[in-house]
Amino acid sequence: MRTIVITGGTDGLGAGLARHYLAQGDAVVAIGRSEDKGASLARLGAHFIGADLSLVAENRRVIDLLASRFGAIDALIMCARYFRSRRHETPEGFEACFALEYLSRFQLSHGLLDRLEAAPAPVVLNVSGPGAPKPEIRWDDPGFHRGYSGMEAQFHAGRANDLLGLSFAAEHPDARTRYVLVNPGSIASSFAGEFDPATAALVERMKRTATPVDRIVPHLAALVDAPPADPVSAFAINRRIDHRTSAADDHAATRLHRLTTELLRH
Ligand SMILES: NC(=O)c1ccc[n+]([C@@H]2O[C@H](COP(=O)([O-])OP(=O)(O)OC[C@H]3O[C@@H](n4cnc5c(N)ncnc54)[C@H](OP(=O)(O)O)[C@@H]3O)[C@@H](O)[C@H]2O)c1
Repeated sequence: MRTIVITGGTDGLGAGLARHYLAQGDAVVAIGRSEDKGASLARLGAHFIGADLSLVAENRRVIDLLASRFGAIDALIMCARYFRSRRHETPEGFEACFALEYLSRFQLSHGLLDRLEAAPAPVVLNVSGPGAPKPEIRWDDPGFHRGYSGMEAQFHAGRANDLLGLSFAAEHPDARTRYVLVNPGSIASSFAGEFDPATAALVERMKRTATPVDRIVPHLAALVDAPPADPVSAFAINRRIDHRTSAADDHAATRLHRLTTELLRH
């Protein structure tokens, strides 16, 4: 029996993956904010951890909790996301999208590495947006104090996650953990968020033609169950793509790793 930890495991793709692995007989730890959704999954046999992963302190608590309650972690699957049309700052002073969709993933990837390395074939599946065109990191304003847009914040976090894959592999050259970035395509998930009317209408239209969650889950599970041998890889659904957009990505990944370490120090 494997232990599969899923952030955003209470809804959308994360919940689809949680149901998939519960049906396989694996131990599933689903992390999200909603106690009600967590209770529904717990009735199916999942362990639920209620946490607001947009908070640095909460990620630290979750890492400690996982280390004390569970042994080896076979897979860390990261799906937590939340869209906001208007800029929102967490009580810790970080822009909320950057905090939830990037900083949390940075903390969990590095913070759970020793638990992952204790498993026979560990994998991190970072469900984000590799392959899609994205803006460069806002080196002087990663928290979008200027010119916030909900869509741009999502793509900016996606770029940060692409670089996280690269720097994770560079920082841990001897790790056996495989880091897989995957873009699931357009999926009819819950699309959690706070939308202005124009974006809400766009999301509703998109949901009508998007792929149902249960149809994409087997493709994502296949990446968890049999990741490539390379330390880092990227996929658009099940098609392997380049995990670099240019040769400059390695430098950007190192720079973002340093910047993030600095941000988390405070
Ligand atoms: N859907 C798509 O078309 C699409 C396209 C490209 C990439 N993706 C990526 O796929 C992944 C999954 O997306 P999805 O569309 O399936 O998401 P979703 O249906 O919107 O679900 C989001 C999940 O994140 C959790 N969450 C939200 N805020 C949280 C917080 N502060 N702390 C902890 N958990 C929080 C929610 O749990 P609670 O409700 O319990 O808080 C929920 O389980 C994301 O990384 C997304 O970027 C999705």
